[in-house]
Amino acid sequence: MSNMEGIVKARHSVRSFTDQKIEGEVLTELQKALDEANAESGLQIKLALNEEKAFGEGHYGQFHNCKNYICIIGDKDLKNLEEVSGYYGEKIALKAQELGLNTCWVALTYKKSEVPFELKDSEKIVIVIATGYGVNQGSAHKMKDFSSVSKTAENESPEWYKKGIEYALHAPTAINQQKFVFELKNQNEVSAKAKLGPCSKIDLGIVKYHFELGAGKENFKWN
Ligand SMILES: Cc1cc2nc3c(=O)[nH]c(=O)nc-3n(C[C@H](O)[C@H](O)[C@H](O)COP(=O)(O)O)c2cc1C
Repeated sequence: MSNMEGIVKARHSVRSFTDQKIEGEVLTELQKALDEANAESGLQIKLALNEEKAFGEGHYGQFHNCKNYICIIGDKDLKNLEEVSGYYGEKIALKAQELGLNTCWVALTYKKSEVPFELKDSEKIVIVIATGYGVNQGSAHKMKDFSSVSKTAENESPEWYKKGIEYALHAPTAINQQKFVFELKNQNEVSAKAKLGPCSKIDLGIVKYHFELGAGKENFKWN
């Protein structure tokens, strides 16, 4: 198993955190991942550290002791804002996993009004990703089968495409809906579409990032 495959398979949503702070080399590396994502994407992704209000005092929804989160802010006019947010957010979430942190994407169960960043009129908070050191590593989600997320049949698919689908099925999606469909066209072109569902366009960006990691960017182009 490659290092990246291990990271993709070990990542599960974690909603309860210890008091250990994000600091030192881990913080430097995480901030570097944010800076790189911002430079590439045009997003304004920011890290809230030791901020106790957005997730309530110790307990909010299913979250316990969440004091750190990655806040994905973007210009409302940015093309494909939600998909881009999913793609770059997941790149950061997997980096966090590699650094020994845990994460959970959070669309709803946090208090947006407590987020300590000034937004321009043209900007909005797309979503946040809770992070920190988990009290556990979470558990694997229920996965759809290949034929529910790929129009191309498994026995007609090259190895790289199958690996891409495998990684996509390990990706987090809102309420674990996995409402995405991939298709292989003309040997090396792949289309990925979101079906209707809450946050399904954010999910699409997340699963496309996973697919690229599994399939290898050199093996195909997006259609
Ligand atoms: C776009 C998005 C939004 C999410 N919003 C929430 C949320 O508001 N509250 C929550 O507890 N979990 C949220 N999740 C976490 C999902 O429930 C979780 O990723 C899914 O059940 C799959 O489990 P896994 O991440 O452990 O693989 C969200 C996930 C995604 C991708």
